[in-house]
Amino acid sequence: MENQPLDFDYQSTTPCSKGVVRAMQPYWNEFWANPSDRQNRSGLHMSASIGLARDKLADCLGVKPERLIFTSGATEANNLALLGYSRAKAIEIGNPGHVITISTEHHAVLDPLKQLKREGFRVTQLVPDSEGILSSEKLIEAFQDDTFLVSIMLANNEIGVIQSLEDFSKLCQSRGIVLHSDAAQAFGYLPINVEQMGIDYLSISGHKIYGPKGIGALVIRESLPIQPLIWGGGQENGIRAGTLPVPLVIGFAEAASIAINDLSLNNKKLTFLRDKLWNDLQSQIPDLIVNGSLDRRLPHNLNFTILGITGSRLKKRLRPFINYSSASACSNGSPSHVLMAIGRTVKEAESSLRLSIGREMEEKDINSAVSVIKKAVNELRA
Ligand SMILES: Cc1ncc(COP(=O)(O)O)c(C=O)c1O
Repeated sequence: MENQPLDFDYQSTTPCSKGVVRAMQPYWNEFWANPSDRQNRSGLHMSASIGLARDKLADCLGVKPERLIFTSGATEANNLALLGYSRAKAIEIGNPGHVITISTEHHAVLDPLKQLKREGFRVTQLVPDSEGILSSEKLIEAFQDDTFLVSIMLANNEIGVIQSLEDFSKLCQSRGIVLHSDAAQAFGYLPINVEQMGIDYLSISGHKIYGPKGIGALVIRESLPIQPLIWGGGQENGIRAGTLPVPLVIGFAEAASIAINDLSLNNKKLTFLRDKLWNDLQSQIPDLIVNGSLDRRLPHNLNFTILGITGSRLKKRLRPFINYSSASACSNGSPSHVLMAIGRTVKEAESSLRLSIGREMEEKDINSAVSVIKKAVNELRA
């Protein structure tokens, strides 16, 4: 469409890829039986299709398919892991214990943890360094006698910073502490082998990886107790009841498989485009500061602050021309808690842009974005 804004918001969501739409197509009205209905051949066929999709997705994560529980997205997966495991653990040991997280988590982790606090659990929120990185030393200092759960995201949704999950998992394992990670932004961009990385619970989402919206999964550790959030027909081993959305499950597995197959090729291109974007912006617009580590970062993320301008005026000028985010899509417009955690002021946080690049984009898109942003900043600074 003519005069559509440039799209630089691929961490908020992605379009379904053509291959994904093709894979889902027959499951809307040709194969439509209920996969839980094992009494007829059509139901069995659907159940087998779900089984194949589960195998495919499990393969992308380096886990046994039994460890996958399909959910409506990463928000539900986080809630299930955090509330479900904590409540079950509290029943097992007789009282609510201590949980550790990082202050730069998405609200889909921070808010269930707030709920746990209301239920009597103690929650420590660790603050990362100025690059957005959490050190092992900080985590070690935070452990308490009754710490039973640590939740640390693999990659941040706003600043793209990647945490050292393998180091954290060793620290947790040696103390018998369970590790959950929200990998909604990392999956499909970083190679993840859940088994090798020693992660007990991992949350992922379909719509961040060119799959459908409304589907995600929680990788569970089968030996751990977990209380369901949704009760009903016993689907997903009784952990998440409800008829599985077959087309979405098929599409999710296909999207994952495409993303993992093309991971290095895509990342090479995305890194090139992102680096060009940052270099060109810096060379044409003075007084920009990057937010978060540039080295330990998702390939398609750039987040920077434009000094000396007012955020609301910048937004007004940019919105007709470019889709971007000034914080996470789910933060209701308040200044980014992530940017504040790494030391930005409210004013700086408000004049920051998260630009995220799509895998179909080209150099000309980067050039257009640079000239749109440059024009807006020059006008505001004049
Ligand atoms: C890090 C992170 N966690 C969770 C979510 C929520 O995922 P979903 O939309 O699949 O519920 C998002 C989406 O923005 C995210 O970026």
